[in-house]
Formats: sequence, structure tokens, C-alpha cells
Amino acid sequence: MPLTALILVARRTAAAEDSSQRIMDCFLIKGGRPLEGEVEISGAKNAVLPIMAAALLTAERCVIRRAPNLSDVRFMGEILKSLGAKAEFDGDTVTIEAAKIRGVGDYELIRKMRGSICILGPLIGRLGKAAVSLPGGCVIGARPIDLHLKGLAALGAKIDIDAGYIHATARALKGAELFLGGRSGPTVLGTGNVMMAAALADGVTRIESAACEPEVVDLADFLIAMGAKISGAGSPTITVTGVKSLHGAEHEVIPDRIETATFAVAAAATGGDVTINGSRPDHLYAVFDKLREAGVKIERSGPALKVTRRGRLKPVDITTLPYAGFPTDVQAQMMALMAVTPGISIITERIFESRFMHVSELARLGADIAIEGPSAIVKGGRPLSGAPVMASDLRASAALVIAGLAARGETRVNRVYHIDRGYERIDEKLRRLGAKIERMEGS
Ligand code: EPZ
Repeated sequence: MPLTALILVARRTAAAEDSSQRIMDCFLIKGGRPLEGEVEISGAKNAVLPIMAAALLTAERCVIRRAPNLSDVRFMGEILKSLGAKAEFDGDTVTIEAAKIRGVGDYELIRKMRGSICILGPLIGRLGKAAVSLPGGCVIGARPIDLHLKGLAALGAKIDIDAGYIHATARALKGAELFLGGRSGPTVLGTGNVMMAAALADGVTRIESAACEPEVVDLADFLIAMGAKISGAGSPTITVTGVKSLHGAEHEVIPDRIETATFAVAAAATGGDVTINGSRPDHLYAVFDKLREAGVKIERSGPALKVTRRGRLKPVDITTLPYAGFPTDVQAQMMALMAVTPGISIITERIFESRFMHVSELARLGADIAIEGPSAIVKGGRPLSGAPVMASDLRASAALVIAGLAARGETRVNRVYHIDRGYERIDEKLRRLGAKIERMEGS
């Protein structure tokens, strides 16, 4: 067996062993204590993944700072290596050099992480060919990629699906005007993929109904630092003027707004007083608006945010929407908060069709929640009591941790490997805030 294959097998076995070990990890939480103290926010998972993929657009070295130490980020590193790039992690800095790359990555690695679809745009942009395994669906929804493919085809890519692979080829991508809106609005990673491919296309691309998420803006900022010509990122219309080549760049990733929101909701659910450092409050107006409506105090103190909840919460209704609306990635955490809030609140999920996996697990803790189509009707206020629960996906696991912190007695959250995908050392950060939470390593 050739050396590269041997190395790949060794790496995959190590990753599998590590992840099979982690699969058994759980959190033991003794609830009923208010969170108090300070917490530092890490870099954004949903910004760093496409930014790491964007490094494939140049042969030169790219240095990405404030990269959170998460299993998804390490996974993306493995995927880039499977394409022939170098990816080195040093603390929260990742250095990528894609001097010589091939257009086909490791099928299994790519299939396993949905976020890896964002290598497609850079590969077709740089090499004019790419073969990437189709990302599977996930528990929160079917998650098709038709808009990604429609956008790349509009730039002239020929797309075939064969043997589980997306095959994309193009002699030369050409700038085009395209509409990228779908049945539930714009696509975040789809916008990123088209923007990255268009950066090296011939001519001007105009993306209508582009996603406006801060992570899209952060990706555009990184591409501009590499020499791309992009305007309008953060608005529904993005214009990209293609250039011949891109160069290396250095970039610091934005703070994780979903992690920030998660700690703010945890402070509210436990009746705590938490100072959040290193966040971008201007990325969270919709979330803070709803928390304030529920009776949570949110103040700026210099660069920090102070989140306090004393006294009774009020029920609020939530509908998830594309940015700058209420983020779907905070829906589950807010449901945990509304479960401990006296009164009726209605939570409507408009982005992912099956993102209520946490409802039945919250019910194990005593929550009273009924699902009616895209909405969950939460009859809150009944005290929660600790129980063994099972995490099903990243944000559902964050909701179960918050509910466990608010519940009386002991909660055991199983399969916390889900939470390690998107929260850096969350148990340590919570312990520093006075939480009684312990990670029980898998045996
Ligand atoms: C990004 O996923 C995030 N992931 C998700 O965060 C987040 O929930 C989502 O955006 C929405 O904000 C990363 O950035 C890695 P979409 P993405 O394409 O880009 C439909 C987390 O918890 N759609 O904006 O994959 C799709 O099914 C994760 O951190 C199509 O129909 O999401 C969904 O209903 C979960 N066709 C909606 O659009 C397409 O081609 C929005 O999806 C693409 C998407």
C-alpha cells in the first residue's frame, strides 16, 4: 500500500478511535445554581470552516487566528490534508498551505461533516475540477445542496452526481447574475461557495438573495485580504469581480455569536449574573431583543456584555429566520429557557424542517412542550428535575445542558461529542461560572 494511503489509514483510524472514545463521553450536571462570573468567547465555528476552505484558492500560506479548538475544525484540517494541503494547528492559530492540491478529497471524511461542502467552490474555482462526496442529510433536516449546484452551474460549471460524488468541471468559470434564494430563504454556505468560485472567475458575478450572516461577511473579508474584489457582503446583493489569482493572507476570525447567545441564555435560565468577554453584540440584536422582552437585563460594560436575570421571566414567542432575524441555531436554547418560564410561548422553526429533536429530551426533565407543525407550544414554569437525556445534535445538546443547569438534582447528558463539535471546552467555561458540571470520559 503506498505511503500516503498508509498515513491516511493511520490518521482515519486515530480519528475514529478518538471519536469512538468521545462518543461515550457524557456530562453530569448538578443543577439549581446561578451562573456567576466571566466567560471568554471563542472564534466562530461557522466562520472558520469556510475560511479554512478558502485557503484552497491560493498556493500561498494563509494564517487564521482565533480558530476554535473544535472537532469540526480539526476535521476540516484532515479534509484539507486529504486534498494535499498542509494544515498545522498551533493553539488557536491554523496555518494552511495549499501549494499542490488535487480535486478529490477523502470520501468518508467529507461525507461525515456537512460543513465540508464549502470546499466545492474553491476547488472548482482554483482547479476547474472537483469531486466531492455528497453531504448526507442530518437530524435537523434533509439539507439539500441544490442552490450550491445551481449557483456554480450559473458560473459555467458542469455538474454531475455519480457514485455518491458531486463531479464539477469547468474549463473557465464566467461571471454571471444569479438568484440564490430557496424555499426557506438564502443559503449561508451556498453563498460562500459561489462567492469563492466567483473570486477567480472571468468577469463580474452578482449574487441576488445572498445570505447576510456575519460569517458570510467574515469570509468575504478574508477573500478580500487574499486580493479578491467583493462588495455588498452582509447585504442581499453581493458583487464579485473575478481576478486572475489570489495570494496568501492573515485573518482573525470573528467571535462566535451562537456561543455568546448560548451563555446569555444559560445565565438567564439559572438566574445568574455573567459577564461575557470578547463577543460582538452587534451580531445578536434579534436574540438580545427577545431576551430583554423576557425580562433579562443585558448591558454593555465597555467591550464586555453583562447578562443578569433576577426575578421572574416572561414568556416570549420566537420565529427563526435568516439573519438578521432570530437565528435557528439559538432556537433550542431558547426553548429550554421558555420551559422554565411561567406561561405559554410559541417557538416556530422556519429554517430546518425537523429541528425539534430536543423536545422529547426536555420532556424527560419535566418540560411541557407540544409540537404543532413548525411550532412548539411551551407551557413553561413547572420546575425541571434532573434525568438522563440524550443529545441528538449540536444545538440540542446545548439546550439540554442549559436545562440541566436550571433543573433540580442531577442530569446526565449523553453523547456530548455533539457539543464538542461546536463549543470549545464548554464544561470548563461553565465550571468557571460556578456550575457543577463534570465530563465523564467514555470507557
Ligand atoms: C449554516 O448551514 C450553518 N452551518 C448552520 O449551523 C446554520 O443553522 C445555517 O447556516 C442557517 O443559519 C455552517 O455554517 C457550517 P443553509 P448551511 O444553506 O449553510 C435550505 C450549527 O448548529 N437549503 O443556510 O448548511 C436548507 O435545507 C449549524 O452550527 C436548500 O434548500 O445552511 C435550510 O432549510 C447547523 N438548498 C435553509 O436552506 C440548498 O442548496 C438554510 O440552509 C442549501 C440550503
